[in-house]
Amino acid sequence: MNIGFTLNGREVFSSDASLSLLRFIRDVVHLKGTKEGCSIGHCGACTVLIDGYPRRACKIKISDVRGKEVTTIEGLTDDRIQNAFLESGAVQCGFCTPGMILSAKALLDRNHCLSREEIRRALSANYCRCTGYTKIIKAVELAASRLYPAEWKNEKREALEDVEIINQDGSKVESSFHYLGKPEKDADGWKKDSGTLL
Ligand code: FES
Ligand code: FES
Repeated sequence: MNIGFTLNGREVFSSDASLSLLRFIRDVVHLKGTKEGCSIGHCGACTVLIDGYPRRACKIKISDVRGKEVTTIEGLTDDRIQNAFLESGAVQCGFCTPGMILSAKALLDRNHCLSREEIRRALSANYCRCTGYTKIIKAVELAASRLYPAEWKNEKREALEDVEIINQDGSKVESSFHYLGKPEKDADGWKKDSGTLL
């Protein structure tokens, strides 16, 4: 029996109820933006949105999405989050990026004026192994400020803008957008923050 659901706004069907959603997305409809990392539900590379919530496609069966709405990175119609990632230097190899962006979208749809801690929590299930998290958090803040400018013109935003981020050599990071906190000074943290760790 065919199982139907919506994928990026189009109705799709599969006769294999036990097939993983990730296999369907990558191998049946050939949307390669959803990445396969660990395949066991740990890394977040395969994150998609199901009815607006981030879920790991490697752990979801086709039978679990019957009648639901699935969105992959290809289905995002507004590219402001992607642009914020690119402008913030939050993409290095890009393997984690689709999952990060979809987790960020789910967060930003529900919370317009978020703290760094809220961003950190929301993205904690998405692993990045090369860019590091400082630029990714900056990207989400930048996206939030562009998506919801009215809500970011408040004391919270002013508090964020008061804090400067400092390079390892003590010079100020030149940026049109400031973010709360400073990169870790230890070598490993700095390399992750600056995206230089290979
Ligand atoms: S590939 Fe699905 S969580 Fe890692
Ligand atoms: S950009 Fe390479 S894993 Fe995140």
